[in-house]
Parts: sequence; structure tokens; C-alpha cells
Amino acid sequence: MDRLANIQIRIEPELARMNGIIRESLKSDNELMDAVVSNYLLTKGKQIRPIMVILSAKFFGDVNNHVLHAGAALEMLHNASLIHDDVVDESALRRGMATINSQWGNHMAVLVGDFFVSNALSAGISTGNLAIITALSDLGKELSIGEVDQICNVREHRFDEENYISMIRKKTASLFRNCVKMGAEAVGVSEKEYKDLVHYGELLGLCFQIRDDIFDYFSNSQIGKPTGNDLKEGKVTLPLLHALEEAPQSVSNNIKEILRKGDLTEKEIQDLIEFAKEYGGIEYAYKKMRDFQEEAQKYLDNYPASEWKDTFQLLFDYIISRDK
Ligand code: IPE
Ligand code: IPE
Ligand code: MG
Ligand code: MG
Ligand code: MG
Repeated sequence: MDRLANIQIRIEPELARMNGIIRESLKSDNELMDAVVSNYLLTKGKQIRPIMVILSAKFFGDVNNHVLHAGAALEMLHNASLIHDDVVDESALRRGMATINSQWGNHMAVLVGDFFVSNALSAGISTGNLAIITALSDLGKELSIGEVDQICNVREHRFDEENYISMIRKKTASLFRNCVKMGAEAVGVSEKEYKDLVHYGELLGLCFQIRDDIFDYFSNSQIGKPTGNDLKEGKVTLPLLHALEEAPQSVSNNIKEILRKGDLTEKEIQDLIEFAKEYGGIEYAYKKMRDFQEEAQKYLDNYPASEWKDTFQLLFDYIISRDK
């Protein structure tokens, strides 16, 4: 059994109930919407975010309906962000299937994504818990700002690690942080009790995006989405940022020239990938993840031993080492 399956199996009944909530929620009487959504739901993805909501709830208490609705809300918001992200990134493949934008056009992808956002809000509202609803809407705002930060980083040719980390904190780690928060809120524990686990979730989220960005430097048929896409769009992620720091200035300047010019050819993309690898960018990104994991562990150490604490540790190991 792989690491993810080992985690999923521990909370299988809860995940199944949550998926039922998602399916029910997304039904509609418009045939086209229903067809597109049903087709989309044929493949699920890893469901890391609702897994974190459920783990957080189990960490502090017992899973109730509010936990499952919070998990459904976050998974739907995540999917909305993917559907829209594939429009933004002009990407044709997701989870091994044609993306909605490639199959039905950008107009449908924007609208289906909106439909997911609204359903996420409904699921949040059904908990009747203002802290959960507020977290959900704040997170939606933060996520979009993060995506726009990324566009600004590309437009303004920002090549520093600080900007990169700040951007992924918003576009990705915000979801992970709020998974922990919403799971804990749904079982009624106080912020004082859950704040350290929220830090843990955020650091896990940063690593999640760093690992995702590393995928882009390798061909990989398992992840079900294109690689090399970030560079094609001029998105400079951690391995390349580090290589730009490490290489002799004249070499870095040449690479920066290519990046500023934009409209990269296949050959230029391959050269950038080689450059990032040659100057230790991949190793550096792994080291960064290990550092974040170590920092996260200190937060987790503030809690007593439990099965769910172990499961969070397993999840972190999986996030760093995963191959899809
Ligand atoms: C992809 O998320 C988007 C990123 C934040 C990198 P996932 O890799 O969790 O996507 P699915 O839901 O498992 O397909
Ligand atoms: C997307 O990041 C993060 C979101 C907020 C959707 P990516 O653009 O790297 O996600 P993938 O690689 O397409 O899944
Ligand atoms: Mg993107
Ligand atoms: Mg993308
Ligand atoms: Mg990516």
C-alpha cells in the first residue's frame, strides 16, 4: 500500500460521506452543467485538503457533520481554483483527463468554476459556524491574490525567493492552513488550542507547492498534468530561483535575459531546466522542504502523542516524497 492509501484508509468512511455531500451539492437541473460536472467528478484527485480537515477534527475530537461539510467546502473551493487555474495556465490536461477549458472552452470553465465556488460557500454556510464561513471567504480572497501575485512576479521579472515563498503562502498554503483551522473549529476547540497545528498545516502547504513545482522539471506520466508548463508561462519556481543565485553572475544574467524576453521555445525551456539542475536547484528545493518539515515538527511536538499526530507526520512525509 502506498503512503497516501495508508492515510486514506484510516478515514475511509468519513471521506466517503464527504464525497456524497459534494456529489449531492453539485447536482443541477441544467443538462450541460450536469454533464460537465459529472464528467469532472469521474476522477477525484488526492483529496489532501479534506483529509487534513478530517485529521484535524480527529486530532481534537470526533468527526461530525460540520466537519464533513467543511471538508466538502474546501475540496470544492480547491477544485474551483484548479478549474480556473487551468484557464489561467492554458493547460489541457488534469488528472489524466482533458481540462474543462480544453474540452468546453474558457467560458464554460469560468462558469463551472464559479458554480464550484458558490457550492463551496453553501457547504460552509450549512455549518452555521461563522468562524468557518469567515475562514472560507478570507481564504478565497487570499488564494486569488496569490494567483495574481504570481502574474505580477512574472510581469515584473522578480527572481527572489522571498517573493516566491510569499506567493505560494497565499495561493496554496492558505488552503492547507484553513483545513486545520476549519476542522478544529467544527469540533469546537479554541484558537489557543489549535494555533500550533495551523502553523503545521501552513508549512505542509508550502512544501506541497514546492514539491508540485519540482514536478515541472521532470517528465512524469503519473501526475496526469503537463510538465514544463510553468517555465513556458515564464513562472520561475524555487529550483530555478536558487540556480540563479548560485551560478556565476554572467551565466545568471544570460538566463535572466532569456526569461525577460519571454515566449520561450522548447529548446530554451530545456536549457532552463538543465541550468536549474546543474546549479543544485532541485537539491536545494528538497532541503528547503526538510527545513520546513523540521520547523513544523516543533509545532507538533507541543501536542501529546496520538494516532492522529502520527498520521499528520505520515502525511508530511508523503507530501515531500510523493510521485504524483
Ligand atoms: C494541485 O493540487 C494544485 C496545487 C496547489 C499544486 P493537487 O495536487 O492537490 O490536486 P488534486 O486535487 O490531487 O488533483
Ligand atoms: C495552482 O498552482 C495553485 C492554485 C491555487 C490552483 P499550479 O498552477 O502549479 O497548479 P497545477 O500544477 O496546475 O496543478
Ligand atoms: Mg497556476
Ligand atoms: Mg496550473
Ligand atoms: Mg504546478
